Amino acid sequence: MIFKPKCVLPIIQIGKYILYPVVTIAILYYIIRMLLDVKNLNAGLEDGKQILNDLNIQIGQGETHVLMGPNGAGKSSLGHTLMGNPVYKVTSGKILFNDQDITEEAADKRAKLGMFMSFQSPLEVPGISLEAFIRSALQQKTGEHVKLFQFQKELKANMELLSMNPDYAKRDLNVGFSGGERKKSEILQLLMLKPSFAILDETDSGLDVDAVRFVAKGIEEYKKQTNGSLLIITHTTKILEGLSIDKTHIIVKGHIVKTGDGNLFKEINEKGFEEFINK
Ligand SMILES: Nc1ncnc2c1ncn2[C@@H]1O[C@H](COP(=O)(O)OP(=O)(O)O)[C@@H](O)[C@H]1O
Ligand SMILES: [Mg+2]
Repeated sequence: MIFKPKCVLPIIQIGKYILYPVVTIAILYYIIRMLLDVKNLNAGLEDGKQILNDLNIQIGQGETHVLMGPNGAGKSSLGHTLMGNPVYKVTSGKILFNDQDITEEAADKRAKLGMFMSFQSPLEVPGISLEAFIRSALQQKTGEHVKLFQFQKELKANMELLSMNPDYAKRDLNVGFSGGERKKSEILQLLMLKPSFAILDETDSGLDVDAVRFVAKGIEEYKKQTNGSLLIITHTTKILEGLSIDKTHIIVKGHIVKTGDGNLFKEINEKGFEEFINK
């Protein structure tokens, strides 16, 4: 009798099609692969002040993660370091994005690879309109000419979704914008640039309930259109309504001290960070 061992590797059957191990593994790898993989990251300022401390974080394709931590824990610094802001110097560790080591890459290269950050305090940029800024960023990112008519149509639709006055498209970027309008302008950029990974740094802080509702709607729309990955830095639940949270990370003194699911976020909202600060 000849014994034929059955294949122990996974096989997927879809209807009449059978996908053999190599294909199955390739598909599973694609589904579970990490979009962002931060390994033992240490970073600080030019003067030697260390801010990020042996920090590890992994975000999969299409996942939504929340980053929480007390004031001064290093949340914004992590965002800036991931985006390649030259103020923050990586002293050791690695940042992998789409399996590519980007630790030493410049900010514009990271943006072209699909990374985006909405700033906690968006800057005023006199001399360039909101519309021209987004169109130019889009052209830089794609390396292609962006046709004006189509672009303006999409911009208008997204501004409507965010309940933004269309006149703002022609105004200088963030100049004289209220806090709410600045944050909406950031989410408008998110919707237009469609990055594969976005860091939203306290996009909801200081906004009135209506503005938070529209910002949340914009983020939900971004997820629907692109299934991009999100790292949301926030202290409140309002901006998360309509999103399902895959993971919550707690950062204290530049180090991720705990990672949990969406329930951890609710727990921290009730109990605070004390348990982690005094560890
Ligand atoms: N550009 C900077 N210049 C000086 N200090 C900074 C700078 N960026 C961050 N820090 C310091 O690093 C620590 C972490 O700051 P930050 O990342 O803004 O915290 P969080 O966003 O969690 O409130 C704080 O002590 C802050 O003062
Ligand atoms: Mg901050």
